[in-house]
Amino acid sequence: MKLRLLSGVKPTGQIHIGNYFGAIRQFVELQDKYESFIFIADYHALNQIHHKDELSRYIMETATMYLAVGLDPKRTVLFRQSDISAVTELMWIFNSITPMPLLQRAHAFKDATAKGHTINMGLFDYPVLMAADILLYDTDLVPVGKDQQQHLEITREIAGMFNRLYGETFKIPASNINESVAVVTGLDGRKMSKSYGNAIGLFDDPTTIRKKVMSIVTDSRTPGEPKDPETCNIFSLHKLFSQTELPELEQRYRAGTISYKESKEALITTIERMLGPIRARKQELDRDPGLVLRILNDGRQRAQAVADPKLREVKRRVGLAL
Ligand code: TYM
Repeated sequence: MKLRLLSGVKPTGQIHIGNYFGAIRQFVELQDKYESFIFIADYHALNQIHHKDELSRYIMETATMYLAVGLDPKRTVLFRQSDISAVTELMWIFNSITPMPLLQRAHAFKDATAKGHTINMGLFDYPVLMAADILLYDTDLVPVGKDQQQHLEITREIAGMFNRLYGETFKIPASNINESVAVVTGLDGRKMSKSYGNAIGLFDDPTTIRKKVMSIVTDSRTPGEPKDPETCNIFSLHKLFSQTELPELEQRYRAGTISYKESKEALITTIERMLGPIRARKQELDRDPGLVLRILNDGRQRAQAVADPKLREVKRRVGLAL
């Protein structure tokens, strides 16, 4: 019996290489080893996106992205969160046992409050929906980037609380944070994020990639001066995209035989080598939305086959099934 893996991406706009290296690539690499459930977190996106055409477009884009990067719908169950009504039912059951202070400690809530934003209930309750996502499927492993670590801790706490109250019902899932890419940095050296405008999109075209790479901030060392690869924003991207070239590049940095300009040119080439084929597959899939919808429909049925019996078990446990 294979262990079960589950993860998701929120369809809120551009999917960037931080998402790819931090999480999505692991989904592809692990799909043989685990029984994989990968979904589009569209209910989570609804907190942020209040324009219907935009949300629908992002959902389709996330679905085609999953296929373009190499998720195989035969091996991986690909589905939409909102297709599985059991998840919001389970969330309500969890809401009824989750103490507010647990959610008041969540980074996303604290950040939004500190910035003076008026937050909606969905943002406050975000970690509880995420707990429902994960626990509904008896998940063993959740591959995510570091920014989701706290959400996983909250998930484990909710599972533990439920099990103590009603008896062993939920597995306590482990996270799978790949430390080397746990936080992918952006063009300005901060965490790569849609909201910071420092991201390279997974589907950026070559002209955009060139413009972005050329805009990476560096120090003022001249072409002939030794440079520190560890503090260089260009080099941190080389680490993601180059494997074989890395030792030589590092040596040239330290010896002062490479300029930042040359390093950027090399980076543009290696980025295109990896993203070019993914972009091409995405363009092909964009021409066949029917195929994507059929895959999601199949995924819905396979996800429901796990989720519905689990919800029935939970309802029995709490006394809702008479
Ligand atoms: P989302 O859509 O914000 O991000 C998708 C994945 O990308 C990772 N990530 C990063 N990793 C490394 N470096 C970065 N700069 C970077 N930026 C983003 C995220 O950690 C994430 O793994 N709440 C989730 C979606 C979700 C989910 C779930 C995930 C909903 N329910 C259940 C797992 C299990 C989110 O908003 O991810």
